[in-house]
Amino acid sequence: MNAIEPPPPRAAEPPLGLILELTHRCPLQCPYCSNPLELARASAELDTAAWCAVMEQGAALGALQVHFTGGEPMARKDLPALVRRAAELGLYSNLITSGVLLDPVSIAVLVEAGIDHIQLSFQDIEAEAGDDVAGLRGAHARKLQAAELIKSSGLPLTLNFVIQRRNAERVPRMLALAEELGAGRIEIAHVQYYGWGLRNRAALLPSRAQLDFTTEVVEAARVRLKGRMVIDYVVPDYYARRPKACMGGWARREMVITPTGKAMPCHAADSLPGFAFASVTDTSLAEIWRADPAFLRFRGTDWMPEPCQSCDRREIDWGGCRCQAFAMTGDPARTDPACALSPDHALMQAVAFERPEIAPPYVYRRIGAAEPAEAPVAAAD
Ligand code: SF4
Ligand code: FES
Repeated sequence: MNAIEPPPPRAAEPPLGLILELTHRCPLQCPYCSNPLELARASAELDTAAWCAVMEQGAALGALQVHFTGGEPMARKDLPALVRRAAELGLYSNLITSGVLLDPVSIAVLVEAGIDHIQLSFQDIEAEAGDDVAGLRGAHARKLQAAELIKSSGLPLTLNFVIQRRNAERVPRMLALAEELGAGRIEIAHVQYYGWGLRNRAALLPSRAQLDFTTEVVEAARVRLKGRMVIDYVVPDYYARRPKACMGGWARREMVITPTGKAMPCHAADSLPGFAFASVTDTSLAEIWRADPAFLRFRGTDWMPEPCQSCDRREIDWGGCRCQAFAMTGDPARTDPACALSPDHALMQAVAFERPEIAPPYVYRRIGAAEPAEAPVAAAD
């Protein structure tokens, strides 16, 4: 027998949620999209039976929730069939949508299929500015209609506003709209700098003063709206002293499946070099979750370097974000530079310090986009 045996796979709790990126297709072109710079084409997407098999295996593994996201998940004609299958399996279903494809017929079909929750994203509170970020004229007006449709369908309404340097001053009006619409929850979520967001960081990163302003507004609103509306608040890491627990810890709570069927521990893991993510088309979800080397690589705390290894927050933030550590240092195994205890923290501070006074133009999210472009505002049909 070989003297050195590989360690047995570490036991894992079942995943809480499956994040199904059904497609990268989307009528919008937001410059902060978390999708990879290389977008999957429609012809490469999993088909209906494959997505159903993913949900069946996920439910058998113990998952409780399924999040349908994209791109724009409503671009998939089979979305109602997938929602119906999730409901049959007892999975709580959440649709994360821009709302621009929602109309009275499609909302009725989704409700009938058994959708449990819809999260509607907004680029801004002002139509012109929102359409400019979305790269689609008329998008904001459609979102307002979608909010009304969701509300009148009886489903719980969550609004998601993405905050960046061009709209941070308007957070009070975003909260007011959510209140006016009777939303049960609002997410005031600063851009996270992965994928297209990282590519557009100079165009999006707010100033410290803008961040402080949004924090103050959110804290006051939480007091004022207590018991009426839940406010989730996500900050940019660039002014932080401690990192966020990205994905609740690597391969601890969620599993992301890309449009082509790659199973990953987070949305941006594809950016990490040297990882070969298994496909749900040839490996079972249970096997991937329990034993795939990519899932085991940063699960738990054994992999951690100092200062994380002896830090009392190591099971709170799980060392922060692996993709951010890689983006900033070139090594995904280093402590997240968002942490003030990281030897690389100065890299993070330098980005905030060097933030340009004048925001450069957006690089819009689209297949093959590489260079800064003028706003590709198209008429909505
Ligand atoms: Fe988190 Fe590591 Fe920083 Fe401790 S040293 S707070 S575990 S990132
Ligand atoms: Fe990949 Fe944070 S986005 S670990």
